[in-house]
Amino acid sequence: MANQIYSIIMKKIWWKEAVIYQIYPRSFYDSNGDGIGDLQGIIQKLDYLSDLGVDVLWLSPIFASPNLDNGYDISDYRMIMPEFGTMADFEELLAQAHHRGLKVILDLVVNHSSDQHQWFQESRAASDNPYSDYYIWKDEIPNDWQSFFGGPAWTYDDQRQAYYLHLFTSHQPDLNWEHPALRAEIYDMMNFWYDKGIDGFRMDVIPLISKDQSYPDAVSDNFDQVIFHNYANGPRLHEYLQEMHQQSSGRYDVMTVGECIGVTDQNCMMYVDERRKELNMLYHFEHMSLDTENGEKYSRTSYHLSDFKRIFQKWDEALGAQGWYNVFLDNHDFPRMVSRFGDGGAYRLQSAKLLATMLLTLRGTPCIYQGSEIGMTNVSLSQIEEADDIWAHNYYHEQLAKGDAPAGIMARINACGRDNARTPVQWSAEHHAGFTTASAPWLKVNPNYTEINVAQAEADEQSILLFYKRLLALRKAYPTLIYGAFTQRMPEHESLFIYERHDDAGHFLVLLNFSADEVEHVQDISVEAELIMHNYDSPGAASFLRAWEARVYNYSVKFEIKQ
Ligand code: GLC
Ligand code: CA
Repeated sequence: MANQIYSIIMKKIWWKEAVIYQIYPRSFYDSNGDGIGDLQGIIQKLDYLSDLGVDVLWLSPIFASPNLDNGYDISDYRMIMPEFGTMADFEELLAQAHHRGLKVILDLVVNHSSDQHQWFQESRAASDNPYSDYYIWKDEIPNDWQSFFGGPAWTYDDQRQAYYLHLFTSHQPDLNWEHPALRAEIYDMMNFWYDKGIDGFRMDVIPLISKDQSYPDAVSDNFDQVIFHNYANGPRLHEYLQEMHQQSSGRYDVMTVGECIGVTDQNCMMYVDERRKELNMLYHFEHMSLDTENGEKYSRTSYHLSDFKRIFQKWDEALGAQGWYNVFLDNHDFPRMVSRFGDGGAYRLQSAKLLATMLLTLRGTPCIYQGSEIGMTNVSLSQIEEADDIWAHNYYHEQLAKGDAPAGIMARINACGRDNARTPVQWSAEHHAGFTTASAPWLKVNPNYTEINVAQAEADEQSILLFYKRLLALRKAYPTLIYGAFTQRMPEHESLFIYERHDDAGHFLVLLNFSADEVEHVQDISVEAELIMHNYDSPGAASFLRAWEARVYNYSVKFEIKQ
């Protein structure tokens, strides 16, 4: 299976060839000096993005929202958040992006809305109005479900005098997909955006939309298991996704990306097998919980590289020729990838380039999160007041109540928290990293902006930014890096990740040393091989990889490498 040349049968299509760049608008660039990133700020940076060489911009939610969960709590799906701009600003952004050949996808957050949404306001008011069944109401709490951000998933509403379900905060009530009028309303809203010309949607926690109507208790104490068995993959999920495709996305030439929490290599094809007409691609979280205890957000354990590699191997096999996914190592919900999977200290430069090499040479649509292209790192907050994320605040107070010391809690928040990824993009060494002219940005800039910033990277021949540009150009030049089969070498090795990408059109060998030690790679590199990417400026000993060294070889001739 792993050696199969999929590209012979694999359908070639733009969204497999694209590279996504995720923008968290609040932190991207502030154009009007109020301390908050905005749509005009994105417009001003479009040349930067097109010059980088990415193809699709995914914007985290830009819709009206009270911002309890920074836009993932939407109060009006058809309105732009005033802090970000107006509908005219959005239309200008879309036109300017398209003009540069960039596509734009938006965030579809339809497992839940904000409790400030008019639908919820009406729904809580009475049990016999058109919106009564838009949410999930129960007279008694039916089970022991806990919300993702801590605390019970059911909250009593005084007005309606019933309990409603919220898998996230109590201000994010879950929508009732069992109700046909709600579903029709969602598809209509999606078409409203498609008709404006957007190029697709990233779908927030989409596997959660169908609920088991018997509302059973949680299967286990392990939250990953609860997500898989209780929250995700509900009985009518695939019916809904097919209906959504028929009523909406399938009518346009767009891409759909499922944020597939609770989906494994065993059931992924149910979502993305192209013959099923549900989603184009998904992203999963298996490698993102490898270094956690039982899927606990604020825990960090060591992990084996062989397990990390096995995850990529088994997903590549599971998706085969008919499925597709995203490759990502960080986003707005996780720590910075260089601090987590690389070395954010002494080997920041090498390890950020190594991770970039991996991200852009695996089979799948890569997703680059803003700031990773300059190697932005985690931030260190000294007290909870400096944190913005509701999840961090909830966790802090929960742990404090259990008697935990503040310093220990902050250490875990700093290692695992979402604010790491949400600090403003570091554009220059100027005040507040050139992100804003306001006296203070909405979230503190990482103090390392004086060294790590775009202006510095643009002036430096050895920068991570330039390395990304070269990798992005390489991926465009060689379709083998997109469609070619993925074959691992030495899968059990605990420091090296070595693989080939190959098909009838080409053959590449990627060597990555995930450690600060010099390691012998035992690969017999043929003399015909051309070293086309390298994160050190000099070659080094032929059979060894230095600390965090990454190399990509292009083979002009067929070759065999010994295990
Ligand atoms: C997704 C988003 C995350 C959000 C949650 C609830 O996981 O990526 O940021 O908090 O869904 O919408
Ligand atoms: Ca602004």
